[in-house]
Amino acid sequence: MIITIDGPAAAGKGTLAQKLADKYNLAYFDTGMVYRAVGIDLISHGLTPDDVSAAEQSAKEMSFAKMIELSKNPDFRSSLGGQAASKVSALPKVREALLKMQQDFAYTPVSSDGKAVCGVVYDGRDTGTVVCPNADIKLFITASLEVRALRRHKEYLQKGMSSVYEDVLAQTKERDERDSSRASAPLKPADDAIIIDTSNMSIDEVFDKVCRIIDGK
Ligand code: C5P
Repeated sequence: MIITIDGPAAAGKGTLAQKLADKYNLAYFDTGMVYRAVGIDLISHGLTPDDVSAAEQSAKEMSFAKMIELSKNPDFRSSLGGQAASKVSALPKVREALLKMQQDFAYTPVSSDGKAVCGVVYDGRDTGTVVCPNADIKLFITASLEVRALRRHKEYLQKGMSSVYEDVLAQTKERDERDSSRASAPLKPADDAIIIDTSNMSIDEVFDKVCRIIDGK
């Protein structure tokens, strides 16, 4: 079974995807990691995410193992990593180079504790439209800009990172605009995606709703 969960930053995709993977015994692939890996690869080599040829080269050389290694960088999950990912992900050649790696994961999916499983929950921006257009269930999870920025701000604080709400709001808005307006795989729901606005819903309410959709299938 393949489930795709797309939507803007901090809509709650990751939490939902992890809970679904646990409940239905599926692997989880957070596809934002592939773009964060390229962004952090550049930054850690003293380059900027605006360096097009370096980003394309990094994407060509990216592997699953290298991505996991780069994810240990303290900036990987920070807003710096998110902004870098958003910039490199707008480059068509970067997306093209990273596509197969994401698709191949579905052939031999492995859960977080190393067990072979028979399906994947993908989370990202284009997983229902580009990565897995034939997915069994496609979800598009969204929430208002303000709610998402507040969730991300609290997440940073909980992780002990410094954060100013107004900055997170501005960065989330900037990422939304870049992700939605890029020519290559812009953020949009697949035609057959189920759209859920989580602005006024708790994680448990979203999870229960999605479980009912999956069980109904
Ligand atoms: O989800 P996350 O915040 O880790 O994603 C970082 C960035 O990677 C996003 O802002 C987006 O630009 C890009 N991305 C993408 N396609 C995906 C996943 C993430 O373009 N499938």
